[in-house]
This record gives sequence, C-alpha cells and structure tokens, in this order.
Amino acid sequence: MDDVLAFSSAASTLSDLDARRTQARSEVARREPAIVVEGADYFFGEGEARKQALHGIDLTIGRGELIIMTGPSGSGKTTLLTVIGCLRAAQAGSVRLLGQELVGADEATLVAMRRRLGFIFQAHNLHKSLTAIRNVRMGLEVHGPEALAEWRRHCAHMLGILGLEDRLDYLPQNLSGGQKQRVAIARALVGNPEVVFADEPTAALDKESGRVVIDLLRRLADERGTTTLLVTHDNRILDSADRIVHLEDGRLVAAP
Ligand SMILES: Nc1ncnc2c1ncn2[C@@H]1O[C@H](COP(=O)(O)OP(=O)(O)OP(=O)(O)O)[C@@H](O)[C@H]1O
Ligand SMILES: [Mg+2]
Repeated sequence: MDDVLAFSSAASTLSDLDARRTQARSEVARREPAIVVEGADYFFGEGEARKQALHGIDLTIGRGELIIMTGPSGSGKTTLLTVIGCLRAAQAGSVRLLGQELVGADEATLVAMRRRLGFIFQAHNLHKSLTAIRNVRMGLEVHGPEALAEWRRHCAHMLGILGLEDRLDYLPQNLSGGQKQRVAIARALVGNPEVVFADEPTAALDKESGRVVIDLLRRLADERGTTTLLVTHDNRILDSADRIVHLEDGRLVAAP
C-alpha cells in the first residue's frame, strides 16, 4: 500500500513535464488507440536471402492496455516488438503508434517517437562505467535538462520499487544478472514512457522479483495509462494481462 502511495507522489513531483505529457496523452487517447497495425509485413535480408518474418499482422492496442505476446522461438515476437517500437521499419502495411504512421516516416520523426517509448530488452546494455543510479538517470537525460530536476530522488525511488535501494551506487560488474536486469527496467520506466516494449523482462528474475516487475507494469498501466506490449514465456504472469496475443510463424493466431 505504502508503495503505491509513494509511487503516486513521485509521479506528481514530475511536475510540468509530467503534466504536459499527461495532457498530450489524453488528447491522443481521445483520438485513437495507442497502437494500430494493419497488414504489416517484415522481411529480413535481400534478394535470394530474403526471408519473411511477419505476415499481414493486424493488431490494435488501446491506451493503458497491457498486452502479453506469446509464441514459439523464432515466431517473430521480437521482430514485431521492434517494428512497432520504431527500431525496424515494416516493408508493407501500416503501423500507427500514438497517432503517427511509422511506415515511411523520416528518421527525425522516429527519433522523436523513440523518446516517448520505454524498452526493456534482454541485452540490458548498462554502461559499465556508470553506477546503477547513473544508468537509470540516462532514462531521464533523453528528455532534456528540465527532466533532471531531483533526478536522484526519482531514480532512487524507481530502484527502490524494484528492490535495489541498497545497490544505488554499485557498478554493473558488482550486480547479479537479475539485478542488472532490474536496473535496466528502472532506466526504461523512470522517464514515464507512454508505451513500454518488454521482451522477456522477467526471464532473468526469480519468482518474487518477476512479480514485482509485472505488478509495476500493471500499476503503470492502471494509474498512468501506460500502454505495454510484453513478450513472455512465463505462465506465471499471464494473469496480469488485459489480453494475450499469440504469434506462430510470423502470423497472429488464436491462442492455443
Ligand atoms: N537479424 C536477422 N536476420 C535474419 N533473420 C532474422 C534476424 N533476426 C531474426 N531473424 C529470423 O526471423 C524470425 C523471427 O525471429 P524473432 O527474433 O522475431 O523470433 P522470436 O519469436 O523473438 O524468438 P525467441 O523466442 O527465440 O526470442 C526467425 O526465423 C529468425 O531466424
Ligand atoms: Mg525474441
């Protein structure tokens, strides 16, 4: 209970930046869902080596929904996550994210869009020379100097929610795999992203830490309207989703 209250008060202290984003969010929310994918195809490679990884994907995700994506290894889950997350461009169809068409969008548009997103990928890519809290700070830096007011408090708070309050000043080399993963999660979430893309975020975590992470994502969805698309093989967290979608051989199919 205290945790939720503490979290809410931290949210309110994000002040101007947060208020502006909340307003922008409600405008977007009135206009259309967070994610609308229609007939999207994605191919790796060129010429003879060209291989289709996504086939005619149709997927709509509303604001504040937490969607879990499942499917066998190689079915295209990471590819779809990166296509919607502005890291790869679909070669056919339409991918609309927060009201912006991504197919054919220029690089400047994609860069601006990525700042509004949070990514939790398995290769956590922490900076080796930065402490845990300095790594988390990077999640605020992309929003410019005004986002850095009281950065230490915000970053420490987020690390505290993830159970790392006594590891703030540790370098990554002195953290376990699961602790590094949680630092990366804190970095992805501290800037209050509008959409979170998470690829197996709990895979490196024990049951309890995995639950903390999924509960945090659930709370962000409920309290801040954060939209979340999460890939997992972890059956224990399926009950936290609003909806489960299933990929097979690059196609969305009815869940098995
Ligand atoms: N960089 C790449 N170049 C060529 N083919 C790729 C590349 N990345 C992925 N693929 C292929 O695209 C298909 C989908 O891969 P993807 O990584 O999206 O699967 P996935 O569902 O995330 O699998 P996993 O559960 O193992 O992470 C696979 O057949 C894979 O071999
Ligand atoms: Mg994958």
